[in-house]
Amino acid sequence: MQTVVTDRRTPAAPAKAGAVVRVAAIGDTHCTKTSQGALQPIFQRVADRIDVLLLLGDLTDYGLPEEAHVLARELTASVKVPIVGVLGNHDYETGHHEEVQRILTDVGVTILDGESVEVHGVGFAGTKGFVGGFDERALQPWGEPVIKRFVHEAVDEALKLESALARLRTAHRIVLLHYSPILATAKGEPSEIMPFLGSSRLEEPINRYPVTAVFHGHAHHGSPEGKTRFGVPVYNVALPLLRRTFADRPPLHILELARGHDVRV
Ligand SMILES: [Fe+2]
Ligand SMILES: [Fe+2]
Repeated sequence: MQTVVTDRRTPAAPAKAGAVVRVAAIGDTHCTKTSQGALQPIFQRVADRIDVLLLLGDLTDYGLPEEAHVLARELTASVKVPIVGVLGNHDYETGHHEEVQRILTDVGVTILDGESVEVHGVGFAGTKGFVGGFDERALQPWGEPVIKRFVHEAVDEALKLESALARLRTAHRIVLLHYSPILATAKGEPSEIMPFLGSSRLEEPINRYPVTAVFHGHAHHGSPEGKTRFGVPVYNVALPLLRRTFADRPPLHILELARGHDVRV
């Protein structure tokens, strides 16, 4: 069983080498062609106090390569720790998501799309996720073929997350998604769009593995935190929400994890 030492919204002091791993998370940066200089101040305020930075999708506004280049410069100018992320729906908008991913990968960002990676002994499993709604109101694969394909996209994303989690043997497993796996962190958004904010199908693999925490974005007007059915903390780190929640602090969610030994299975 993993132990989260502290769930801290801002770092109190420089990281003590060997004691904890500090994971900072932010989503929905929606970087535009004119965002140069807009994100650096956020990252600079925590850059020397974190061990890993997570990016939770909608990294760019329209998925344009020019926007990705701006974000890449913002990151390389201010972040010197490993960066792990997933793409969001905005990163797909203009059909350049592969180039967006390549531009970010070229500056050292690890983009997860059904893969996992280990950093400082912590395992990160990620995929974009998809929509479809929550719990008993979730869309079912019934009726027209297009509805079945739509639902199967969420099922496929859940399977990708499952296979990513299955490859990890670390004491801590952190899940990255763009879409929410639970209703609680989408609450606050208009009820009419709830089915488009995430899918409970993404919660299923999280319930089958000993996950320490889940980060996602997308629901800009959602709620900052909730829990899965089995009590795993889920954090919505969409930047607009973080700005409102942490008005006097850097808009990143920082989780401190005890450095654990690998789990032997
Ligand atoms: Fe967004
Ligand atoms: Fe989004």
